[in-house]
Amino acid sequence: MKIFSDNINLSRSKFLRNLLDSLGAIDENIALHLEGENIYLTNEKYREKQVVVNFSNSSLIKLTNERCRNNNDIFKKLFPFSYKKIIDCTAGFGRDGFILSNMGYNVTMIENSPVVSILLNHAVKTDNSKKIRFFHGNSYDFLANTQESFDYAYFDFMFQKTKTSSLGSKHDETLKKIAFFEKNIDDLISIATNKCGQRVVLKEAAHSNMRLPKPNYCIKTKLLNYNIYNGYKK
Ligand SMILES: C[S@@+](CC[C@H](N)C(=O)[O-])C[C@H]1O[C@@H](n2cnc3c(N)ncnc32)[C@H](O)[C@@H]1O
Repeated sequence: MKIFSDNINLSRSKFLRNLLDSLGAIDENIALHLEGENIYLTNEKYREKQVVVNFSNSSLIKLTNERCRNNNDIFKKLFPFSYKKIIDCTAGFGRDGFILSNMGYNVTMIENSPVVSILLNHAVKTDNSKKIRFFHGNSYDFLANTQESFDYAYFDFMFQKTKTSSLGSKHDETLKKIAFFEKNIDDLISIATNKCGQRVVLKEAAHSNMRLPKPNYCIKTKLLNYNIYNGYKK
């Protein structure tokens, strides 16, 4: 992966270069640009398009408003009490976390990929509402070390384009190239159920071949399965 930086961001870019080199290669078609306050990715495959993560994106706001108004929205079924604390353990570009925050949940986002985290951190810092907390790291580490407990945990390991993908498939294709791939999903679910009183929800494609622990129950839509694991209070 290439990094282009102005003088203001030089030490940051050196730190990141070192980190990425130690983690192994990311696609050379992807470049991170650090220009003053602006942070974005470009993907040579999609030459004309910058991948920017920000919560003032008009299509994300439109989608969020529609989902907040809809009493039958899937998040409201999955997480029945909106004032509760929710940990989004696979934050990605923060779209789900942003929607949940606007629905009234107290959201903490965790993201393990350093490049995704730089983009997401920028979005969280420039978000006017200042309601979302974000931590970079593995959600297993976070859950194992925090003294906090949560009501709900949410996992979304999916990269497939869905009809509700608010930032479009090019963003998702690029996210896939810079994301971290978790192998220990069983352990993650287990620790999440110990730290969450109500429930842990894991989203997967309806026809996915992911090997998951058996959920307590499952809410199905046409394209997606939401596997639900009871929390420690249940
Ligand atoms: C499919 S994306 C999530 C998209 C997100 N729901 C959204 O709305 O933008 C999955 C993300 O989870 C991150 N991830 C995977 N395993 C993780 C872990 N154990 N801890 C923290 N982040 C993780 C990946 O790096 C990736 O960015």
